Amino acid sequence: MTKIDCLVCHDRTGTYMKVPTEAGMPDPAVDLVRVAKSVGRTSRRTCGECHFNGGGGEAVKHADMSRQLLDPERSCDVHMGGYDFQCSECHRTRNHKIAGRSTSVPVSEGGFSCENCHGERPHYGDGLLVHHLNKHAETIACNTCHSPVYAKCKPTVVSWDWSKAGDKNRKPIKDKYGMQDYDWKKGEFTWLESGKPVYTWYNGSMKRMLLGDRVDLDVSPIHITEPVGSIKDPGSKIAPFKFMEGVNAFDLEHRYFLVPHLFPKGKEDATAFWKHADWQKSFTAGMQAAHLPYSGKYEWYRTRMYWGIEHEVMPANMALSCVQCHESLKGERTCNRCHQDNKTVDFKKIAQKGTDFSYMASKGRDVSHLIGTTDYIDFKALGYKGDPILHGGRFKKLPMGYTPQ
Ligand code: HEC
Ligand code: HEC
Ligand code: HEC
Ligand code: HEC
Ligand code: HEC
Ligand code: HEC
Ligand code: HEC
Repeated sequence: MTKIDCLVCHDRTGTYMKVPTEAGMPDPAVDLVRVAKSVGRTSRRTCGECHFNGGGGEAVKHADMSRQLLDPERSCDVHMGGYDFQCSECHRTRNHKIAGRSTSVPVSEGGFSCENCHGERPHYGDGLLVHHLNKHAETIACNTCHSPVYAKCKPTVVSWDWSKAGDKNRKPIKDKYGMQDYDWKKGEFTWLESGKPVYTWYNGSMKRMLLGDRVDLDVSPIHITEPVGSIKDPGSKIAPFKFMEGVNAFDLEHRYFLVPHLFPKGKEDATAFWKHADWQKSFTAGMQAAHLPYSGKYEWYRTRMYWGIEHEVMPANMALSCVQCHESLKGERTCNRCHQDNKTVDFKKIAQKGTDFSYMASKGRDVSHLIGTTDYIDFKALGYKGDPILHGGRFKKLPMGYTPQ
């Protein structure tokens, strides 16, 4: 970290800002003396100044970060809302190495996880679910249960089609969330609020396409990032992601991703897309700047990125219930499929305890299609034969002491 200025993270007046065209220099209107006198610890605001806007707008790339985290409701983010955590309370920083891996870029200053604070057995007390929940935590990432929907505080972009950019006459249309579907500079967007994540096995590593990597153009979509993991690997867990679907340009001869030159460098700029809306010129200039040859032939291809869901953890009572995953626990027989009935315990009620999508829908969230659903994480897609209560877990043929009908 040598090319970054100090005040962007350490200002506490909230007035420090940059101008996009000044290559990182502060806005001349900022009172630098006042800012310099204010320096102190970082905050959600200083870190969010950059991270709430990844992708050139709020919540565009990160499904789980937006300005809502400046002062979130408890139900939006239990740590930053309920307990007023600052970013660096989780992203512990020593000698300016900010812990926390990204799922998109391969720089790393050390990772950390929920378990660093909560331990491998985070559920405690004498509740009847504690045993099974801690057992599940060996196979299922915390946020699979604790963040059952992403972008619940603010809609996020789930598809971005660059090929449509350039039509200065096309009028943007507002979707049901009030978000615009088009921007002539950037193309066509789809937004989603309270999206259901995609679940996949993840061992903490990502495969990433880097600039200049040749790809197989016949595979659709082309994965820009993809989690590594497998049901057979004890180090992998089922983790939640947002898909960012895209349409991007590739060099037909060199078979790699093309970097466009977008932002005009002054009045004389003859190639910037945001001035001339000409892809050919923009790729020629962009690839020159990236020091990679461009054949002059480009084509648009479907792409996909996986974005991890790390923030906006919901309060404990809004985690997925047993029934929301296990169809087998939905009927009259629940825990007593395997355990003896106990007159003082209402098994049915315990198995249903968790996220209430009808309550969220009543608060205006876009989740009515999720009310009453089970098999939330799609066991078959993950490589199970079906509900593990009936068919067994990944390393167990069948749960002990239970014979399926
Ligand atoms: C990307 C954000 C970021 C930038 C940029 C940044 N810092 Fe920090 N700095 C932090 C964080 C995070 C901490 C840990 C404590 C906190 O949260 O404030 C910290 C801590 C510090 C501390 C306390 C001692 C320590 O090491 O824990 C000093 C002094 C400091 N920074 C000075 C600077 C200076 C001088 C610069 C510019 C060269 C700078 N910082 C740039 C994020 C940043
Ligand atoms: C001046 C803009 C800026 C500020 C302010 C800033 N960051 Fe970043 N940060 C970036 C960029 C750019 C990246 C790399 C791309 C990305 O992940 O979006 C990054 C990456 C990260 C990563 C992933 C690192 C990795 O190794 O993969 C974390 C975690 C992070 N920042 C946390 C913070 C925290 C916490 C703060 C506040 C103390 C902060 N950032 C302040 C711009 C900033
Ligand atoms: C409750 C803990 C917690 C808080 C608070 C928190 N984060 Fe994170 N964040 C995480 C975890 C866990 C990860 C994943 C880290 C890893 O795998 O090493 C993460 C990852 C990230 C990443 C990389 C995400 C990606 O996939 O590209 C960024 C950037 C980031 N956090 C920024 C922030 C910012 C900015 C704030 C404050 C507004 C913040 N975080 C507050 C827990 C937290
Ligand atoms: C820096 C430490 C830290 C990290 C990292 C962290 N937490 Fe927490 N978390 C806490 C503390 C402190 C509390 C409040 C006291 C408690 O309930 O243990 C809390 C509370 C919770 C609660 C209960 C909230 C309630 O009151 O209903 C859940 C659920 C939770 N965390 C899940 C997570 C998940 C999931 C992650 C990873 C994305 C995570 N935590 C990362 C420290 C952390
Ligand atoms: C199979 C789903 C599931 C997984 C996986 C899971 N949790 Fe939970 N968690 C729950 C449920 C449900 C509750 C509420 C329990 C209750 O109300 O009795 C809960 C409660 C909690 C609480 C509040 C304290 C308590 O014991 O009630 C914390 C803190 C917590 N979880 C953290 C985590 C962390 C950290 C992880 C990952 C290491 C994790 N959970 C993994 C479902 C899960
Ligand atoms: C996020 C979805 C999810 C939730 C919520 C969930 N389970 Fe599971 N459950 C699974 C998966 C996946 C497995 C298979 C684990 C493995 O491969 O070992 C499993 C396996 C089981 C098994 C059989 C294997 C074993 O560990 O003995 C039982 C019993 C079980 N779950 C009960 C419960 C109960 C009780 C709850 C509520 C506290 C619950 N499950 C909540 C996904 C879930
Ligand atoms: C598919 C069979 C199955 C179902 C369904 C099931 N359990 Fe279990 N449960 C087990 C088994 C087997 C154990 C023993 C430890 C192990 O292998 O996980 C166990 C252990 C427990 C324990 C710990 C007992 C001890 O002595 O430590 C509790 C409490 C518990 N289950 C409660 C529940 C509740 C509540 C439900 C319903 C929400 C439930 N179980 C559903 C199979 C099941």
